[in-house]
Amino acid sequence: MMPDRRVWLITGVAGFIGCNLLEALLRSEQRVVGLDNYATGRLSNLEDVRQNVSADEWERFTMIKGDIGDLEVCRQACAGVDYVLHQAALGSVPRSLAHPTATNGSNVGGFVNMLDAARGANVGRFVFASSSSVYGDHPVLPKVEEQIGNCLSPYAVSKRVDELYAEVFSRCYGIECIGLRYFNVFGPRQDPEGAYAAVVPKWIAAMIQNQTVEINGDGETSRDFCYVTNTVQANLRAALVDDAKATNKVYNVAVGESATLNELYEMLRLRLLPRFPHLAEAKAHYRDFRSGDVRHSHADISKARALLGYEPTYRLQDGLDEALDWFVHNAEQPERAEALDVDVD
Ligand SMILES: NC(=O)c1ccc[n+]([C@@H]2O[C@H](COP(=O)([O-])OP(=O)(O)OC[C@H]3O[C@@H](n4cnc5c(N)ncnc54)[C@H](O)[C@@H]3O)[C@@H](O)[C@H]2O)c1
Repeated sequence: MMPDRRVWLITGVAGFIGCNLLEALLRSEQRVVGLDNYATGRLSNLEDVRQNVSADEWERFTMIKGDIGDLEVCRQACAGVDYVLHQAALGSVPRSLAHPTATNGSNVGGFVNMLDAARGANVGRFVFASSSSVYGDHPVLPKVEEQIGNCLSPYAVSKRVDELYAEVFSRCYGIECIGLRYFNVFGPRQDPEGAYAAVVPKWIAAMIQNQTVEINGDGETSRDFCYVTNTVQANLRAALVDDAKATNKVYNVAVGESATLNELYEMLRLRLLPRFPHLAEAKAHYRDFRSGDVRHSHADISKARALLGYEPTYRLQDGLDEALDWFVHNAEQPERAEALDVDVD
């Protein structure tokens, strides 16, 4: 599947999804340039990748510390690059509600800079992270790419605007773009800390530390949880697909199954119970619904299957089984015990 030693640019490379992409590409003998300002990404993610690849593979990686808000930095990063996997953004619905201008700066201003720099450098393909949040209040389930509703947060607006910019850059300048609407991604190197922690690492950390898990709403909110290996596969397929019909489109990237927060809670509790017997009595606490949250999220992935050849290899349960040791290892640090809000994107 992989071409011979091409040059890839991963923006947001120190973040959760970016560093998983980095590891997959280095293991496939590709050259990678990384760009990150460490706003939410971590050097430790890169260090983790370094330990998982050979010295030769690691030598094919060049890191640029910089901000996509700076067009010159974007141009420098895009020089000589074959494929861009653009992940850099400020994630999270609640963060965007608290800080709409910062979200817009990275997710829209930075996005246009990256598109413009990629265009100027004649990059072969620009693959970017969009989000299931663009479906907003559209009631139809499962979600199909062509039917979107009103945005429910500044974050959703930023991702929708990115899709529109990519469409216009394709039309006006001929750059090939593919947008990937990620549904809730989880897996190793996902941050359990911080006010906008994602639900899986956050809950595992709380359960291990014998804290009460807080569920927003009645727990019947549902999500299509997608293990990061599936997300990596979708990015590589989007970058490499050799079919004009597949480019300049957006695709759902998910498993195509949904689980409620109550179901997720039980899956995690039962998996952790053998190691943490205190969870036998554990009960979640239910609090108010959180503003900006979509009620149900479940993807139709037939478009990605048909045009990209995408086929998820991990269901939610498989991903939890594979990543549990990593999550437990990373959560067993008591200083991480903080009352946090949970982001289900
Ligand atoms: N994780 C999910 O479930 C999910 C769901 C939908 C969409 N997404 C999107 O996927 C992408 C990656 O998400 P993630 O979960 O890995 O998040 P993350 O926060 O771990 O990674 C984002 C990375 O981008 C970097 N970054 C942010 N602003 C930047 C800027 N101005 N300049 C340079 N670097 C910057 C951060 O430092 C971080 O390393 C994001 O675009 C996010 O919106 C993620």
